[in-house]
Amino acid sequence: MRVISLVNQKGGCGKTTAAIHLAAALVLAKQRVLLVDLDLQAHASLGLSVSGELGPTIGDVLCERVTARESLRAAPGGLALIASSQGLAEFEEESARLVGPERRLRYALEELAADFDYALIDCPARADGVLTANALCASTSALLVIETGAFALQGAVRARALFEEVAALQGSRFDLRVLGTLFDRRTRFARELLVALHARFGQDMYETVVRSNVRLREAAACGRPVFEIAPRCSAADDFRALAAEVLAETPRIGRELRAPRAARPRAGDRGRISGLELPGVELEA
Ligand SMILES: Nc1ncnc2c1ncn2[C@@H]1O[C@H](COP(=O)(O)OP(=O)(O)O)[C@@H](O)[C@H]1O
Ligand SMILES: [Mg+2]
Repeated sequence: MRVISLVNQKGGCGKTTAAIHLAAALVLAKQRVLLVDLDLQAHASLGLSVSGELGPTIGDVLCERVTARESLRAAPGGLALIASSQGLAEFEEESARLVGPERRLRYALEELAADFDYALIDCPARADGVLTANALCASTSALLVIETGAFALQGAVRARALFEEVAALQGSRFDLRVLGTLFDRRTRFARELLVALHARFGQDMYETVVRSNVRLREAAACGRPVFEIAPRCSAADDFRALAAEVLAETPRIGRELRAPRAARPRAGDRGRISGLELPGVELEA
């Protein structure tokens, strides 16, 4: 089972949307997929019409009141879901008194390893809490989701460094990849930013960029993946393309976490990423 955490230390960048839709696209590609909602806000659960207030949740799993298998729910899009609720705060509070609280999710998911091809974990917008630590500890890959808006490059560089630090601190090893979202092709700024992100992250960045599409907001409001309400929209195409990339890759777990040197831009690239101001970001010589 490949375990992919969707992370960023920032909210509103499209993590939950990407978690739901990459999961649903992998189901369309005949994979058995589990989605774990690891955010108190429970947006992944709500986005799939599942209420965490009724029935077992990830908080119950982490507090060891139920097993991961007992907490599984069927969700739209052919997904299996472990839902979330405000109750997750109880685990965060209790974790200070536990030995190795960051390993709970990893152990809990082990019993499901033969039942699913993929588990996707939708993380909260915090890199340094016990919840993200649990996700990273359980993961074979971390997917850094970046909104392709203003200051995205600086945010992405900082966020990646932060997750590498967290991984090093807890001794985790996972493949760290980057996904651009909320992309608006019409603006020159966004197009140039994409070039800069590719220059910076090289092969760590997925070729697929998720374009802005209002259908994704509608899908969230309907509580169903976009494939069920608008299967031919650009968002459906983008997530199918992303799933194809994910299916084709072999995660480089245990590799040196820093990007290979060749993937980094040279100082001269600053001129070639024409007209783009990148304050605060040092392109390396
Ligand atoms: N590609 C996209 N196009 C249009 N709206 C999007 C897109 N991705 C996310 N959204 C919307 O942006 C908001 C924040 O997205 P969400 O996935 O909840 O972010 P996060 O989980 O990082 O906080 C939601 O209202 C969501 O519907
Ligand atoms: Mg979210």
